[in-house]
Amino acid sequence: DEAERTRRIEGALDALGDDVVILGHNYQRREIVEHADFVGDSYQLSKEAAAADAEYVVFGGVTFMAESADIITDDDQTVVLPSMEASCPMAGMAEALQVDAAWAELTAATDADVVPVTYMNSYADLKAFCAEHGGLVCTSSNAHRAFEYALDEGDKVLFLPDKHLGENTAHRLGLEEEIAEWDPWDAASADAAAVVDNDVILWDGYCQVHERFSPSHVEQVRADHEDARVVVHPECRREVVEAADVVGSTATIRETVAEADPGETWAIGTEVHLTRHLQRWHPEVNVVPLCGEACMDCNAMRQIDPNYLAWVLEELAAGRERNVVEVAPGEKELARVALDRMLEV
Ligand code: 13P
Ligand code: SF4
Repeated sequence: DEAERTRRIEGALDALGDDVVILGHNYQRREIVEHADFVGDSYQLSKEAAAADAEYVVFGGVTFMAESADIITDDDQTVVLPSMEASCPMAGMAEALQVDAAWAELTAATDADVVPVTYMNSYADLKAFCAEHGGLVCTSSNAHRAFEYALDEGDKVLFLPDKHLGENTAHRLGLEEEIAEWDPWDAASADAAAVVDNDVILWDGYCQVHERFSPSHVEQVRADHEDARVVVHPECRREVVEAADVVGSTATIRETVAEADPGETWAIGTEVHLTRHLQRWHPEVNVVPLCGEACMDCNAMRQIDPNYLAWVLEELAAGRERNVVEVAPGEKELARVALDRMLEV
């Protein structure tokens, strides 16, 4: 039961002392978040990983986040992911091998300088690819800065994998007339020669959790709660972002509710576990999910079961490293360049 598991986790943490730090993403379930030393959005977690001096960084999050932690921590630090099944489907939508082939097609179609920018939600080899071609990484909290960097350094940006974050960012920068969506594998999609007429080229990836939100959910919540305000993640479709009052990363969503006055109603358009945390952390605010809870559960984040957390910690305390996430040398150095560029901009 939970009390017994908590005793096991605390026992292992006592034995490990300063040798371990637990980082948890805002979408992790309560039983993980309660044991984390720091809970935040992807950008904050990458900064915490960079600042951590513990020998072991145990990551409550998905594979790409643990990989980024491995890239950013020192070589003598070890990153552990409680479940190796926690893989973000969106990250899998832009495989470096595919992107490489598409890149050849795109760059052959133009003399302009295209700069690739990848969302943090991607694997290390794609981050390395971006560094190799003068690009960088971004998260949902700094995508606009990454676009500005790319358009300063070059003429056009190829953004991967999330078309919705890309579209929302282009709108934020007044570049809505410059957007081309591109799926090089779909015969119905425009070809490379046509898309390079635009300055913002969007890879055809998306988050299956955030894509489920629709403008009708926003209408419904406003009908159900007269004064409801709506805050959504920029992985939501453009129409949803347009219908919302606030858009931002999971850290921004947390801040928005933390700053609300008692009695205000906020509808949350993101993964359900964050909505539940906000309900617990801010009982004075009326926090409601933007759509039925089942429609926004991230199955990748859910793979981090608290029993696995107990197991990896007990194993570490017994001197056994399990579920270590290690990016291959070479790839790691290049991916680090792309992450460092993000931290700089
Ligand atoms: P944040 O960077 O806003 O925490 O988002 C990460 C994520 O996976 C959203 O789906
Ligand atoms: Fe990936 Fe979406 Fe889950 Fe975030 S919520 S980890 S983008 S599947």
